[in-house]
Amino acid sequence: MSSTLVTNVGELLTGRLPGEDGPAVITDAAIVLDGDRVAWVGPAAAATGAARAADTHVDAGGRAVVPGFVDSHSHLVFAGDRAAEFTARMAGEAYAAGGIRTTVAATRAATDELLLAGARRLVAEMLRQGTTTVEVKSGYGLTVRDEARSLAVAAQVTDEVTYLGAHVVPDGPDGPGDPDAYVDLVVGPMLDACAPHARWIDAFCETGAFDVDQARTVLAAGAARGLRGRLHANQLGPGPGVRLACELGLVAVDHCTYLDDADVAALADSGTVATLLPGVEFSTRHPYPDARRLLDAGVRVALASDCNPGSSFTSSMPFCVALAVRELGMTPTEAVTAATRGGADALGRDDVGVLEPGRRADLVLLDAPGHAHLAYRPGVPLVAGVWRAGRPLV
Ligand code: NIG
Ligand code: FE
Repeated sequence: MSSTLVTNVGELLTGRLPGEDGPAVITDAAIVLDGDRVAWVGPAAAATGAARAADTHVDAGGRAVVPGFVDSHSHLVFAGDRAAEFTARMAGEAYAAGGIRTTVAATRAATDELLLAGARRLVAEMLRQGTTTVEVKSGYGLTVRDEARSLAVAAQVTDEVTYLGAHVVPDGPDGPGDPDAYVDLVVGPMLDACAPHARWIDAFCETGAFDVDQARTVLAAGAARGLRGRLHANQLGPGPGVRLACELGLVAVDHCTYLDDADVAALADSGTVATLLPGVEFSTRHPYPDARRLLDAGVRVALASDCNPGSSFTSSMPFCVALAVRELGMTPTEAVTAATRGGADALGRDDVGVLEPGRRADLVLLDAPGHAHLAYRPGVPLVAGVWRAGRPLV
């Protein structure tokens, strides 16, 4: 097992939340990685003899270190792109969930090899931008065969795999499909084929996709097969999805764009993480979610990319952080913490997202003196180095 001392770190963001033991930010810091774990973090002046004896020394030159980003929501298994749809939206067209069916057609026509190559390319793109943990969903297959092979592809690029057969009701051969028959498929033969590949089950609870009773049915069937639930809800308008997620005690509910006071109270009471996906509002021109309102109410907040070819084709957590600071009312510290620790919470993970002894050694060295530069210098590639499980990968 090799060890690494990263010293002369101008500023280190730990990922700790206010009220937790230990500082959120350490200036003039050092960090020691031992094998795949963090062994020590603290002021560089306090580094112990053991820390100084590390096999490899890295001089950060006064630059900042943050935890590796934890992107808890993405759809990386697909073929084709929808740039024309995006261009039309920028000219005034509305976003419609039905666009999902365009990607479904392209995905069904693609080979496993092509789908895997696409997912790998996006995971590599994410890594170069500091993402060290990513969740990946199915949802562009919508047949037993195409959902199962989408999940088999996802499982080759991550451990955090989510079955999203309930994305939209696919068209039948002669027009719109029958929603009830499709839900029966999702919780029956499709679940049988998909459950072995997945850790999570998800549904798109929204007008034009699945209603709250259908979402409840899907989540219950998944739970009976050992899949933990998460939900897409309140993305395109108000609705009961967020309250369902809270009632069921789900780990996370994602989008949370249109919330009323009862939704916010339910999130605060349940501890369900509200995952905000501002790349979606950038690309759909819907209003941005109000992170400030959630944080002030005591809701736990995560940021994720929702990387997908329709509503948010960004793989960049730094871009999401910049949007969160500019448009969602988050401070830079809140936004970066939501993109690291928040994502870990949204995946029920206590081994990533925070830089403290015992956690997996996933960290990002920034070409900047502080984490605020991720928002202050939007669009600039500030990721100078990435370690995952103690290994330098970028
Ligand atoms: O998370 N909300 C539903 N699903 C995706 C969009 C998928 C698409 O437009 O292709 C999302 O935004
Ligand atoms: Fe999504």
